[in-house]
Amino acid sequence: MKLSGKKVLLCITGSIAAYKAADLCRLLIKEGAGVKVIMTSPASSFITPLTLSVVSKNTVYTDFLGEGGNWNNHVELGMWADLMLVAPATANIISKMATGQCDNFLLATYLSARCPVMIAPAMDHDMYLHPATQNNLEVLSKRKHFIVGPAKGELASGLTGEGRLEEPETLLKAVVDFFLTGNELKGINVLVSAGPTREAIDPVRFISNRSSGKMGFAIAEQLRSHGANVTLVAGPNNLVQPYGIHYIGVESAKQMADACLSEFTKSSIIIMSAAVADYTPEVVAEQKIKKSSASPNIVLTPSVDILAQMGQQKKNNQFLVGFALETEDALRHAIDKLKRKNLDLIVLNTLADHGAGFEKDTNKITLIDKKEKVINFDLKSKKEVAADIVNKIIELTHA
Ligand code: CTP
Repeated sequence: MKLSGKKVLLCITGSIAAYKAADLCRLLIKEGAGVKVIMTSPASSFITPLTLSVVSKNTVYTDFLGEGGNWNNHVELGMWADLMLVAPATANIISKMATGQCDNFLLATYLSARCPVMIAPAMDHDMYLHPATQNNLEVLSKRKHFIVGPAKGELASGLTGEGRLEEPETLLKAVVDFFLTGNELKGINVLVSAGPTREAIDPVRFISNRSSGKMGFAIAEQLRSHGANVTLVAGPNNLVQPYGIHYIGVESAKQMADACLSEFTKSSIIIMSAAVADYTPEVVAEQKIKKSSASPNIVLTPSVDILAQMGQQKKNNQFLVGFALETEDALRHAIDKLKRKNLDLIVLNTLADHGAGFEKDTNKITLIDKKEKVINFDLKSKKEVAADIVNKIIELTHA
């Protein structure tokens, strides 16, 4: 049992997804965790405290006043837990946690808890994407809380989009990962690049690509959970900055090259997942280019191949990982890239795989190491793909 001896304080708030919390509780207990449950009063409209009490085999806390007129001690409860898991977390509770409000038992426990906190948001798509919610999640993420999900899919409102509570199995996995991920990379400096670059044509226009940065961010978070000191150099993206990671935001290929190459010598493991523009306009017009009848002629010049430069400068104690996105003869091109850029490992994606690639939440990869050993993986979430990549790096660097 993977959670034997671990104590999880499951906090359920008033979302329709609260009905899934009973399943989550059951899964946690099946893995050996001790679970105590806090429910807010709106949560009780969706699922009863009795259900959770039966499933958790424990008292369920809903208010300061407990059984027999006794005080439920929120401080003690916070001290008891190894992990406080708020699932589902509504926009309301997320907002109150972010601003430190304390008008119910759950929030009082949160403010006094010293353990790590994991939050699984669940709400309608537009509520999730609202800048207020996004800001609140960013605050909580900076506070070093783990945000799991939400997932994309059908929502209670009838809309489809981001906002669904992650499935209980996924949440269980996040909890297991949280407790199990080791310290194999403790103290090791790791550099990750992520996202697209933007190459300016004039003050308002640029050339870019469809990279979202999700893969690189997931890799950076995975490395952090293994104890690494992670620097993440990322091009423009819409993602929440992950906590506990040295984040350097850049825009152009030149800025990405400058940031990455200055971090390179300090880094033992380097993972270049960014989709860096191969070409950049030779001249950036100072003023907005006006429309005219003649077709514009934009001359492009090659940008620095950061990965290739790193391959040339690489020392024996450095491990260099590149990405390859190929559309034809993928394996041959990837092996060629691995050799040409002097890499230790290459991650191959092809756009041919349904559900894989840019802007998606899933990916399907093939890993090829220096000895040309090829491992094919199934289509998985980018978080799981990141775990596969990082586990392989740990295996190869610890061999
Ligand atoms: N890369 C880089 N700097 C660049 C271009 C790419 O560091 N200017 C890195 C990417 O981060 C990725 C790898 O190189 O890890 C593969 O990029 P790709 O553009 O596919 O490779 P190329 O060598 O440019 O080959 P081609 O475009 O011909 O496939």
